[in-house]
Amino acid sequence: MDIQEVLNWTDEQVFTKTGKHLDWLQKSILQGIWQHQDYYEIAANNEKSYDHVKKEAWKLWKLLSDVVGEDVKKSNVFSVLEQAELSATGNSTNFMQIGIGNNQVNICSEQHRSPSDLSSSHSPTPQDSSPIIDLTDAPDLTEFYSRTSELTTLKQWILQDHTRLITIYGLSGIGKSLLTRQLIEQIKTEFDYMMWRSLSDRPTLSSLKNQLQQFFAQSQQPSLPTIIDYLRHSRCLVILDDLHNLFKSGELAGEYLTDYKEYRTFFRQIAKNHHQSCVILISWEKPREIATLEAEKHSTRTLHLKGLSADAEKILRSHQLTDSDKWPELINLYQGHPTWLNIIASTIVELFDGSVSLFLSYSEDIFLGDLEPILESHLERLSDLEQQVISGFRKNQAIALSQKPTNPELSQSELWSAIQSLVRRGLLEKISEGERGMFQLHPIWQQYLKFKLS
Ligand SMILES: Nc1ncnc2c1ncn2[C@@H]1O[C@H](COP(=O)(O)OP(=O)(O)OP(=O)(O)O)[C@@H](O)[C@H]1O
Ligand SMILES: [Mg+2]
Repeated sequence: MDIQEVLNWTDEQVFTKTGKHLDWLQKSILQGIWQHQDYYEIAANNEKSYDHVKKEAWKLWKLLSDVVGEDVKKSNVFSVLEQAELSATGNSTNFMQIGIGNNQVNICSEQHRSPSDLSSSHSPTPQDSSPIIDLTDAPDLTEFYSRTSELTTLKQWILQDHTRLITIYGLSGIGKSLLTRQLIEQIKTEFDYMMWRSLSDRPTLSSLKNQLQQFFAQSQQPSLPTIIDYLRHSRCLVILDDLHNLFKSGELAGEYLTDYKEYRTFFRQIAKNHHQSCVILISWEKPREIATLEAEKHSTRTLHLKGLSADAEKILRSHQLTDSDKWPELINLYQGHPTWLNIIASTIVELFDGSVSLFLSYSEDIFLGDLEPILESHLERLSDLEQQVISGFRKNQAIALSQKPTNPELSQSELWSAIQSLVRRGLLEKISEGERGMFQLHPIWQQYLKFKLS
């Protein structure tokens, strides 16, 4: 029996029970599953959206469950139909052992299963039930101020563009983890598996893969050979937080420690191989290979997370600061950085009874106080080259790429590499000035360098 006969037999059963035939999309879904396609491929082949196909498939499984009197899912549709056909005719055609064209498979006897074989296996998969979630390493959902445009962008990349690898990078405390925690709250129903893993304890790649494998294998038996197979077989959202812990200090940004270079290949595979999942990397620094993957136009996107804009005022309000007309100045001074603003707001309450005007009027310099150790944690990671270049920035001065290095020992290409690396750390910002690429160091960092170098 081939797929056409399976479709004819199923259509007959549906017609007998409901008086209606299967429509073309229902047949295409069955045909796609028979050919071991996932919902993405079926959607693409039929010029429909993934969501639409998933919804229609869900209705189809419900219809077939009613028709054959058993619980039908994507994972068991052909084995249930086979059983139903067997009981109806007493003559098994064994649907599962018959493939199409060159794609012939025998699911039960295969030792090494390909993921596509397993998409039709008898074991339950979470595809049609609620997602399996491990958020042990994720931060708690605390008070969160909007970030509407960032959330919209990320949802678009994940749900509509089906981006396979996303990097969110930015300064410590800028809100990367909280934003991602908020994001997954809004999209978790779109996934079968969701796992958050912090890399702060520097797991080797093989240990990370083992953990992921164990997590996926909980509900996917038999287990699949590789992580990519799971990403292909189910809709998985994996968040790898604190990635910068795997990068070298004292080198240009995003360079892996010696024992962690394999991660680079792993992330390349995730971006380049076809699958239906998404991996989000969260880091202080943009990894070097991500820039290359973006240049090669693989399924990779990067979000550089910056400070809060208007919503930063809510932080100041939560500390009950006064002189709200001065709040925009304070926010601008501290880059809308939520952690920095929380720290400075506490100082203003402690020293100035909450008066922002008094705080701003007292000092000519930008007050750093408890921000110093946070700023230092970034600057201590710089390479010698970056240290030389960054200390060349003077107050309110921007550097153009065409400019000759102030230090005559530096070559032009060294200057460019250092600038590129400082941008990948979120320390330098590109500002457009005429047609020249100009880069600027924010006053907070200038102030800290002044304090350090004095
Ligand atoms: N959108 C937001 N609304 C309110 N508070 C925020 C927001 N984003 C960040 N914060 C505040 O900043 C703190 C730090 O945020 P978060 O832990 O997400 O930073 P991070 O960028 O992940 O830092 P790190 O890289 O050091 O882990 C939060 O605990 C919260 O107090
Ligand atoms: Mg974090």
